[in-house]
Amino acid sequence: MASISRRAGNVSPSPTLAITAKAKAMQAEGIDVVNFGAGEPDFDTPQHVKDAAIVSLQSGFTKYTPTSGTADLKKAISEKLRRENGLQYGAGEIIVSLGAKHSIYNAVQATVDPGDEVIIPAPYWVSYPEIVGMADGKCVFVETDESTDFTVPIDTLRKAVSPRTKLLILNSPSNPTGGVYNREQIEQIAQLAVERGFYVLSDEIYEKIIYDGREHVSIGSLGDAIKKLTITINGFSKAFSMTGWRLGYAAAEKPIVDAMEAIQSHSASNLVSFTQPAAVAALNGPEELVREMVAEFDKRRQYIVGRLNDIKGITCTMPGGAFYVFPNVSGLYGGKITGSDALCDYLLREANVAAVAGSGFGADPYIRLSYATSMGNIEKGLDRIAAAVSKLL
Ligand SMILES: Cc1ncc(COP(=O)(O)O)c(C=O)c1O
Repeated sequence: MASISRRAGNVSPSPTLAITAKAKAMQAEGIDVVNFGAGEPDFDTPQHVKDAAIVSLQSGFTKYTPTSGTADLKKAISEKLRRENGLQYGAGEIIVSLGAKHSIYNAVQATVDPGDEVIIPAPYWVSYPEIVGMADGKCVFVETDESTDFTVPIDTLRKAVSPRTKLLILNSPSNPTGGVYNREQIEQIAQLAVERGFYVLSDEIYEKIIYDGREHVSIGSLGDAIKKLTITINGFSKAFSMTGWRLGYAAAEKPIVDAMEAIQSHSASNLVSFTQPAAVAALNGPEELVREMVAEFDKRRQYIVGRLNDIKGITCTMPGGAFYVFPNVSGLYGGKITGSDALCDYLLREANVAAVAGSGFGADPYIRLSYATSMGNIEKGLDRIAAAVSKLL
């Protein structure tokens, strides 16, 4: 009978993209919405990166490329991983895809069989459970909260491992919490993965957006045994303000990369040809702009956390990375505010402020605010939230 597949029926559309679309639609109607929904930097792509794409396009670099990416790009990624992350991967162990999200999708398709368990620390990025679901894997969520800065204590993680555990998804710095695992924690996780023999998908997309001198540690760099089990994911969207370019990559043992390549060869083929030299320019070029962006995010982070903690009913810990705050708003629940969805609806209607409900991240006591928006917007948005919330208490 003609009907959509059970698989498609089980997929929920991304709530973060939905709130952004709603806010943009209101803005198009002329409503002055402060949008804290965005998961993208409010900075432009660096000029030298754009120039590289323009030159490449004009020189006629417009045909299919190898599925796994151009040799130049894979070389630049290999050098970057060695230089910045202490990871040794040759060109055959790297595959470039249409964004880190696509790399994660392919990696899960390449490793997870139906019924395999995938451990996902919660709060989690909205796409992880959906991607695991599309591979018929079974999500095993491990709850965390602000008492550990949203990182999973090793003993809690150990209890979640079973003989069916195939994969752990590690995201440090984290979206939505900004939580960052320190070296000791990453070492403990590596030891557990090696002991119990499961893969670790290490989503390092926010590695450069990290504060207070914290160190980003790539789990795959901690020895040969863990490297064999690690799929390192990264991309260009966040560090280089290139969300629209759709450029991401994975590095792993060759059999995993080969499997990802086979899957990609029958779906996307290669990523856009003339963006690949731009990605090389991003990796090999100056990084002052990245540093300036992170310094600006840091100022906003301090400000927004301070303002949120001044609002009765809201508490917010200081995130160590990424560009989100994840305040606990459960003090406002009761009466007509039944949870994070109701609160975000209320803020959008009452205060013209767009925030993302924690429910989509598996954490209903919280909401997510992105501070990838100007200081002026942040001030205005916080004034509005404070006024709207005061009516609830
Ligand atoms: C944790 C995390 N991983 C991956 C991605 C995907 O990034 P890309 O734009 O490269 O697909 C995002 C984007 O929001 C993210 O927050």
